[in-house]
Amino acid sequence: REMQSPFEAIGGGKVVERLVKTFYSRVRVHPDLAPLFPDDLTETMRKQTQFLTQFLGGPSLYSHEHGHPRLRARHLRFPISQIQANAWLDCMSKALDDVIIDSEWRERLLERFTLTAHHMINQPALKD
Ligand code: HEM
Repeated sequence: REMQSPFEAIGGGKVVERLVKTFYSRVRVHPDLAPLFPDDLTETMRKQTQFLTQFLGGPSLYSHEHGHPRLRARHLRFPISQIQANAWLDCMSKALDDVIIDSEWRERLLERFTLTAHHMINQPALKD
């Protein structure tokens, strides 16, 4: 089934919605991430569902409403070092465990998320 997009392969919109839900339930309690996010994650989750749908080869829901993602630019107002990138990836890795059954797809998705997360880094990690 080489014509199938990752979006279709993992189970489509229902699975993306579950992924986003469990991901942000971890983000909201992660000490390195929670301070960066608003208390009400409704809109954040809606945008991320749109983005991931498109990122995984489904319909271009995000760009249709918000234009080009310009992800790195949109993240510049938040301090993101290796610490936050690792925290984000840790939450996503666990979220993938929650919803993606196929271990090969899980690995492929995590690989792509890892590249994107590292691309978001915009400052060195501060030592304390
Ligand atoms: C928005 C943090 C990585 C996709 C945001 C917001 C924060 C944030 C604080 C704003 C939330 C809001 O105010 O609603 C981070 C941190 C990352 C990271 C700390 C660590 C590397 C990623 C990655 C992706 C991503 C890897 C995609 C795979 C998005 C999207 C938005 C967003 C689509 C919404 C942009 C918009 O406002 O339209 N992120 N993020 N982020 N993030 Fe990230």
